[in-house]
Amino acid sequence: MATSSVLRRALLYVPASSQKFMTKSLSLASDNITYDLEDSVTPANKQTARTQLRDHLSSLSNKPASIGELAVRINAVSTPYALDDLTTLASAPNLDAIVIPKVNSASDLSFVTDVIRHAALQRHSSDPTASPLKLIALIESARAVMDLRSICAASPYLSGLIFAAEDFALDLSITRTPGLAEFLYARSAIVTAARAFDLPSSIDLVCTSYKGPEGVKQLEEECQNGKEMGFNGKQCIHPSQVEVTQRMFAPAEAEVEWYVRILVADDKASAAGRGAWTLDGKMIDAPVVGKARAVVAKAAKCGMDIENIKAKWKDQKPE
Ligand code: COA
Ligand code: MG
Repeated sequence: MATSSVLRRALLYVPASSQKFMTKSLSLASDNITYDLEDSVTPANKQTARTQLRDHLSSLSNKPASIGELAVRINAVSTPYALDDLTTLASAPNLDAIVIPKVNSASDLSFVTDVIRHAALQRHSSDPTASPLKLIALIESARAVMDLRSICAASPYLSGLIFAAEDFALDLSITRTPGLAEFLYARSAIVTAARAFDLPSSIDLVCTSYKGPEGVKQLEEECQNGKEMGFNGKQCIHPSQVEVTQRMFAPAEAEVEWYVRILVADDKASAAGRGAWTLDGKMIDAPVVGKARAVVAKAAKCGMDIENIKAKWKDQKPE
């Protein structure tokens, strides 16, 4: 079963063909850094990128504290590159996860699962404390959306789904619009499947414009929209997108304060035998309290000082 402690608000792609980008990535603060061997690396550069990435991971004495997870995006299982990607990298030190593009059916994940099980023997012999690699599947075709149920059940290592808009738009001849309405069905299917199979992450599409105030505005709108739909993170292509994404996918301060007040008052309501009660004129009952617990727990993982907010509202009573 996937661990629910993984926080993946921003997933930043770093082309593994660029030594400069890989070095830069270590200075960033991001829940996830994904070194890319797929679309940002040309066929002629695949081998060099693989070995460069392996050397990069091996050269780290530890994963930087500001980075939650280091991952590699391999090439699609249907290409001649995937097996070499896995044999070169699946036993690499400091690697936490493998991002698999163009997952079309359960068999794509079964293949990767079998290969990483072999690599795990080597990983374990060099570092007995190493955890098993997690898998994150990119959903980017109509076929994949139709087969989400079997994809989600295909591997015990699966720990998240990612929606990839560009390839999905290509597959369905979709024209992307700023409101993203054309992707509603696929995005909603993905977050629903991730939840149904208890996968900790559902990660939304890339915001392709990343420059200037316009880029930030569009990114903030997309993050808000994705968060409202149930995604808990977003793919990024440029370091400037990471801070905004990390912030937007963390609970907002006002939201956390509201839910802390509910938890404090609910203790008093429960002690008085009240299951439904009122705060600021709004009805509070079990599902609201459940949501309050979830949001406050996430805020704590995002580094917010919950005890301080609780102390501020310690006298909060139900109305
Ligand atoms: N990862 C790490 N560092 C990156 C980066 C990335 N994805 N993108 C940019 N940087 C670094 C640059 O090296 C530069 O560092 P410096 O300030 O220390 O010199 C800084 O961030 C600013 O970069 P900038 O000059 O604005 O961008 P660029 O023109 O060098 O690169 C892109 C722009 C789009 C080519 C680049 O961001 C990129 O390749 N992104 C990833 C694309 C990708 O992986 N696509 C496939 C997945 S969808
Ligand atoms: Mg793609």
